[in-house]
Amino acid sequence: MKQDYKIKDIGLADLGRKKITISEKEMPGLMSLRKQYASEKPLKGFRLTGSLHMTKETAILIETLKDLGADVRWASCNIFSTQDEAAAAIAATGTPVYAWKGETLEEYWDCTLQALTFDNNLGPNLLVDDGGDATLLIHKGYELENYFNEHQSYPDITTTNSEEIVIENLIRKVHQLNANHWHNIVPDIIGVSEETTTGVARLIQMEQDNKLLFAAFNVNDSATKSKFDNLYGCRESLVDGIKRATEVMMAGKTVVVCGYGDVGKGCAQSMRSYGCKVVVTEIDPICALQAAMEGYEVKTLESVLNKGHLFVTTTGNKDIITLEHIRGMRDQAIVCNIGHFDNEIQVDALNDSDATREQIKPQYDKYTFPDGKEIFLLAEGRLVNLGCATGHASFVMSTSFANQVLAQIFLADRKPEIGLYDLPKELDEEVARLHLNHLDAELTILTDNQAQYIGVNKNGPFKKDEYRY
Ligand SMILES: NC(=O)c1ccc[n+]([C@@H]2O[C@H](COP(=O)([O-])OP(=O)(O)OC[C@H]3O[C@@H](n4cnc5c(N)ncnc54)[C@H](O)[C@@H]3O)[C@@H](O)[C@H]2O)c1
Repeated sequence: MKQDYKIKDIGLADLGRKKITISEKEMPGLMSLRKQYASEKPLKGFRLTGSLHMTKETAILIETLKDLGADVRWASCNIFSTQDEAAAAIAATGTPVYAWKGETLEEYWDCTLQALTFDNNLGPNLLVDDGGDATLLIHKGYELENYFNEHQSYPDITTTNSEEIVIENLIRKVHQLNANHWHNIVPDIIGVSEETTTGVARLIQMEQDNKLLFAAFNVNDSATKSKFDNLYGCRESLVDGIKRATEVMMAGKTVVVCGYGDVGKGCAQSMRSYGCKVVVTEIDPICALQAAMEGYEVKTLESVLNKGHLFVTTTGNKDIITLEHIRGMRDQAIVCNIGHFDNEIQVDALNDSDATREQIKPQYDKYTFPDGKEIFLLAEGRLVNLGCATGHASFVMSTSFANQVLAQIFLADRKPEIGLYDLPKELDEEVARLHLNHLDAELTILTDNQAQYIGVNKNGPFKKDEYRY
C-alpha cells in the first residue's frame, strides 16, 4: 500500500503520543465534545481537510474529528509550526498528514494540495482552515479553470511575490493534469470553519466580491476564541518564542508592540509583566485610547525606532516594519511578528538589502548592515510563537478547537447556503462553561427574579450578540 503521509520522522510517534496524552487532560472542552458526540458520529461519511498548525493540540482536534466519524487529511498552515512528533503520532494512526517543521514554500503548497486530495481525486466536504490557505488554493484553482475555459490560455503571472508565484505555478500544474479538477471538487464542499482574524478578513472580502464558493464559519469571532486564544494565548506564547530563540533578558527593555487588537493587548500585557517599558502603535483611535489608558505610551513607529530593544508586529496588516524602519533601529534590536503572515515585516526587502544575513540557529537570524549595526529577526518574520516555540498552550487551544468542532457539526448537519456565519452565542457560552471546572471556577446561577429583572433567560444567552466582552 502507498504510504499516505509525508512527515519528518515516523520514529517520533511515541514521543508525540506521550505529549498528546498529557495535553488531552488540559483540553477539557474538546475532550468533552469528543465524548458527547462520539457515539452519534455527526461527521460520519464526510471527507474533511485541515490546514492548521500541526501541533499536539491539533492532533487532539484531528482525533476528535475522526472519533466524530470524519475521514480526515491534514497539512500545516505555516512552514515552521509543525511539531514533528505530533505529526508522527498522527501518521502512525493511519491519518494522512503532510507536514514537517521547515518546509519550503513549494513543499508547503504541495502539502496543502495533498491534504485536499482524497482517493479517486475527490476533494473534501468540509474544511478546517487557519489563515485561509486551503480556501485560497481552491478559489485560485477554480478561477484559473474559468479563465482558461474563456481564453484557452493562462493569464500572465504578474506578481513578484515569491509565495504567490509558487501558488500560480501549482494551480497551472494541477490544470495540466486535470483541466476540471477544482470544478469537480467544489460542488462537494459544504463549507469551511476559519480559525483566525486574517483568514476571516479574507473571507469577508471574498463574500463582498461575490467570490465565495461555499459556506464559511467565522470561528475567530466567537468570544471564546478571539478573547482567549488571541489574548491569553499570545500573552504566554509570545515570550516563549522570544526566549527560546534569543535567551534575552526582558526586564527593563523597551518593547514596541505594533497593533493593539486582541493579540496586541495580550502581547503588551505580557511584556509589561516582565518589567519591560511598552510602547504601542495603532491606527484606530479607540484601540490607541485603550492602550493609553492602560498606561502604555502610544507613539508612531518612526518616533521610537531608536528607542526599542524589541519590536513585535500584531496587526494582520502588511508593511508594518519596512526596511527603512529597520535601518533606523538601534544596534542589536530584535524584530519579530506574531500576526498571521510574514508580510508585516519587509523580510524580502531585508534579504535583498545590503545587510549580510547569518543564521544563528534555525528561525534566528542576524543581519549586519555595512555600518556594523546588527539586527536580529525571529522565525524569518513568520509567527514567532509557533516558529520559535510551540504555539499556545493546550488549555486555550481547547477553547478555540471546541468552537471548530461545533462549527464542523453545524456545517455537516445544516449544510448552510453560501455565506459567512458566526456560531450562536449559546454555543459560545457552552464552550466557556466546558472549561470552568478545570480551573475550579464556580458559576453563579441567576434566580428567576433576577433573570426577569435583567431580561435574560436564566440559562443564557446572557449577553446580546453585539456585546464586546
Ligand atoms: N500567533 C498567534 O498565535 C495568533 C493568534 C491569534 C491571531 N493571530 C493573528 O494576529 C493578527 C492580529 O489578530 P487580532 O485578533 O489581534 O486582530 P485585531 O483586528 O483585533 O487587531 C489588529 C490591530 O492592528 C491595528 N493595525 C492595523 N494596521 C496597523 C498599522 N499600520 N499600525 C498599527 N496598528 C495597526 C488594528 O487597528 C487593530 O487594532 C492576525 O493576523 C491574526 O490572524 C495570531
